[in-house]
Amino acid sequence: MKRTSRIPGFYKEPVESRRRLLAEAADLDTSEIARVLAAGGLDVATADKTVENVLGTYALPFSLGLNVRINERDWLVPMVVEEPSVVAAASNAARMIREGGGFSAEADEPLMVAQVQLWGVREADAATRRLREAEASLLAMADAAVSSLVARGGGARAIEARDLGDGLYVVHVVVDVRDAMGANLVNTVAERLAPAIAALTGGVVGLRILSNLSDKRCVRVRCAVPAASLATAEMPGAMVRDGIAMASRFAERDPYRAATHNKGIMNGVDAVVMATGNDWRAVEAGAHAFAARSGRYEPLATWRAGDDGALHGAMEIPLALGIVGGTLRVHPGARLAMKILNVRTAQDLAMVAAAVGLASNLAALRALATEGIQRGHMSLHARSVASAAGARGAEVELVSAEIAEARDVTLDAARRALTRLRAGAPHAYGDYGLSLAK
Ligand code: MEV
Repeated sequence: MKRTSRIPGFYKEPVESRRRLLAEAADLDTSEIARVLAAGGLDVATADKTVENVLGTYALPFSLGLNVRINERDWLVPMVVEEPSVVAAASNAARMIREGGGFSAEADEPLMVAQVQLWGVREADAATRRLREAEASLLAMADAAVSSLVARGGGARAIEARDLGDGLYVVHVVVDVRDAMGANLVNTVAERLAPAIAALTGGVVGLRILSNLSDKRCVRVRCAVPAASLATAEMPGAMVRDGIAMASRFAERDPYRAATHNKGIMNGVDAVVMATGNDWRAVEAGAHAFAARSGRYEPLATWRAGDDGALHGAMEIPLALGIVGGTLRVHPGARLAMKILNVRTAQDLAMVAAAVGLASNLAALRALATEGIQRGHMSLHARSVASAAGARGAEVELVSAEIAEARDVTLDAARRALTRLRAGAPHAYGDYGLSLAK
């Protein structure tokens, strides 16, 4: 069966039937989804074996991102995030991007860098020459330290050296980590090679650790959105397109704006990274270091109006993501996320995370270039206010719709709306849900 990531009306369904719809779309067992998510994806006993001083677990919403199509293939995307509107906005933008044929994406080979720091290197040029001569034997030594990785098709690929001045010197061992995130593998390599590298360079060994600036492991993702798909009730598509292109220029010129622009991208990227049990601090560190690689902090994604009238978006981001080992070994929620995604390689996962990041950026810029961000946020915030006021089940949608429409998103207003609703009074159903994925 060909998978589709397009499930119209998904957001309107109660949780139970969303699980059923997902099970059908992803060919999974509904009871497995329910069982894993009932415990918030992680039970206390397992958590206690994972980190130290555990008192319990701490749950976040586990949601489904829709409409994502990359290189002609559909992806159902698990997203874990606490911020209202991130999932709806990404799904909605992915639907617009889909109208332009979806995302096209490519991922580099999964190359990570192990750094070995040295100090007191007196003759950097001679050290570099000796390292080059010894490269093959160093690579063989590295491979011997990670033989199971070599058996899976990975292994050490190159030795690079950089003179940092004043006797400070760093050697990079480039390792193909295949489907792992790779931190443990490259740290092992760094520690194993350090004595030999010290002997070759005449330096004293300092740190031996991966670099989180994983710029040899980038994803490039693009899309072209027809202007008509961007239109809002108040603004024609061409105007929205031009507003988004101007928003991009703003971020390209101003690091203050670029930081917020990139935050909007990371809303989507991190939600996928978290759902799949990956290290989001590593991804964040890499993304922001990469954004500053020119010496100036810049946006990771840019947007332009094309000659064809469409809005063209492009993004490049380093993504060190794994689909084996680490948290995935122990975290049932992360394993469920992997089953939903059904990725075959870490590169596939990186392309999905990047696409969701680009969609999140488009959604944010479209909202900011048109009605502003607050209205959509308010609609979604209204749901938690409605729940806090005591609304249950279908009442949540009705009460939140009423208070959002009245622009009075307060607990008092929600309580009044709930009382009226329970008394059988007609509700004012506004445009709530327009910002949600349809
Ligand atoms: C909020 O989480 C993200 C935005 O601030 C991103 C942006 O300004 O582009 C809306």
